[in-house]
Amino acid sequence: MKKTSRLEFLKEAAAISAGACCLGAMNFFESCSTSKKVTIEIKETADMVSFPASSFADRTFITIPTKKFVEPLFIGKQTDGSYIALRMYCPHKGCAVNVAPEKFVCPCHGSEFSMNGSVLKGPSTDPLQSFRVSTGNQSVTVHFNQNG
Ligand code: FES
Repeated sequence: MKKTSRLEFLKEAAAISAGACCLGAMNFFESCSTSKKVTIEIKETADMVSFPASSFADRTFITIPTKKFVEPLFIGKQTDGSYIALRMYCPHKGCAVNVAPEKFVCPCHGSEFSMNGSVLKGPSTDPLQSFRVSTGNQSVTVHFNQNG
């Protein structure tokens, strides 16, 4: 097994409030999340961030801090068991977006994005940045480099 130099550290991940869960119009997530904060072990390199799949417990999404970005990463668990990772950074002028029921909302100028990051409402014309997610060895890995 190839050894890589990794920064291993504990970070606190915050599940967002119960009001941020999907309410049925979109079958993207299977259940609501809780507002409980949990501590999970996060491994991060310049190219990826990884954490145990068990971090989700019964939550449908978590947000995690990274060293790479100021804003947290949103990682959602979809009904088919796959994951989606989005940078919570509005491409319009760079504000951090918030999770609202069934969408992301930018507090600066009102752009809205779907739960897969596509634009619902401007002024942003670009979607939220998404990242490839892989799973294995009971962990979830978000790849910052799309070739990684
Ligand atoms: Fe998000 Fe302008 S920075 S809408």
